[in-house]
Amino acid sequence: MKFIIHTFGCQMNKLDSELVAEALTAAGWKMTADENEADAILYNTCSVRDNAEQRVLARIMQLKPVKKQRPGLVIGLMGCFAQRMGAKLFDQLPHLDLVCGTRKFPQIAALLESARSGPVVAIEEETLVAPGTLDAHGRSLHDGMQAYISIMRGCNNFCTYCIVPYVRGREESRPEDAIVTEARTLVEKGAKEIILLGQNVDAYGKDINSSLAKLLYRVHEEVEGIVRIRFVTSHPRDITEDLVRAMNDLPKVANYLHMPAQSGSTRMLKAMNRGYTREEYDRKLEMVYRLAPTALIASDFIVGFPTETDAEFQTSVELVRQARFQNSFVFKYSPRPGTVAERTMPDDVPEEVKLARNHELLAAQEEVKIKRTEELIDSVQEILVEGVSPRNAEKMLGRTASNLICVYDRTVHADNEIGTLQRIRVDRATPLTLFGSKVEA
Ligand code: SAH
Ligand code: SF4
Ligand code: F3S
Repeated sequence: MKFIIHTFGCQMNKLDSELVAEALTAAGWKMTADENEADAILYNTCSVRDNAEQRVLARIMQLKPVKKQRPGLVIGLMGCFAQRMGAKLFDQLPHLDLVCGTRKFPQIAALLESARSGPVVAIEEETLVAPGTLDAHGRSLHDGMQAYISIMRGCNNFCTYCIVPYVRGREESRPEDAIVTEARTLVEKGAKEIILLGQNVDAYGKDINSSLAKLLYRVHEEVEGIVRIRFVTSHPRDITEDLVRAMNDLPKVANYLHMPAQSGSTRMLKAMNRGYTREEYDRKLEMVYRLAPTALIASDFIVGFPTETDAEFQTSVELVRQARFQNSFVFKYSPRPGTVAERTMPDDVPEEVKLARNHELLAAQEEVKIKRTEELIDSVQEILVEGVSPRNAEKMLGRTASNLICVYDRTVHADNEIGTLQRIRVDRATPLTLFGSKVEA
């Protein structure tokens, strides 16, 4: 029996898909890249914005004639959209066989089996971090140099626009020991960089008397052979001095923070229930740059949130310039059914205004990014070497802590540098790539 899995959404979904693939492989299934020979086609879905859902719906609609031709085929929808809709999906998609929620995927093999004899819905909320079942829940199949570990699941924040707390449930941290053990296993299997994942990764440990800072020290100390450690995504409110110090002091932890601001306006932040004012966000930034002067920071923004005025939008533009973000992801507000914003606030910013704001904010961010990248000229960057540059066989390619691509001359011994950190002096920079030369130890 063969399966194919298509993944939408964030890194957490990517990891969940890997875990599903692992569970199915263990149950005797084989993964295929060819839909034509698949006995099961799975979609791991995202609900964060309406267009994410529409894209998946369109794809599954297209499978209707395929299912007619191959009645034995099992079509399954997993993940956040599955969790949000449950059995209602069968009304829109009568040829669907399985709806599997965000906390049910460890049972995927059994679910697929029963879906062969009739429609199955599995969306009950279950705790995922029960002792004894850890293996199935955190570790990623490692592919390439990077490997993910889910260190916590869920979100308690209930930002008014966001569907995540509804589809991913409450925050649950996984035990430190399990994470350290998984990191060791992944590194033994060849992973160089471990990415610790959570919707609010910096809230890690609140429920188990631990903290992300503490976990970073442990992974750094106790996982032999690990080259780099990252963590995403951080809620600004939960970024503590301890965390920033751990990031700055531990050489293997990338000096990179994704701390989404969402807006530069205190009135908008309040309406979004973000839990901080603009001033508090500014103070956090100042603290990060003070304790970790080389840190690069990325943000997310929502434009066109209900009642956002032009002047309020401009505070976001101004924040991008002031904060000197390395990167920002910008999203047009999309009302999500059942959220506080959708129920109580009018989606009153016209689409063309949202679009214009989106372009303007991205343009401001691009300017900042170019300046930021040029400032790196003459600096020394630690890069994790991935291999020979696919564009130029005379160059080696790696990534900086902030995930910028950096290339340098390939020497006869360069193959030994793959999977190691190398110190590179940057000679030249384009918005997408740094060019440099190796600094001998
Ligand atoms: N937990 C992370 C983000 C998860 S969703 C955090 O709090 O930072 C990723 C991003 O999608 C969010 O940061 C936000 O910018 C955006 N987003 C979430 N819900 C949205 C909505 N309803 N409309 C538009 N963008 C949204
Ligand atoms: Fe959504 Fe807010 Fe939780 Fe992030 S912190 S997942 S934006 S509710
Ligand atoms: Fe999307 Fe679910 Fe991730 S809604 S962003 S796939 S947590």
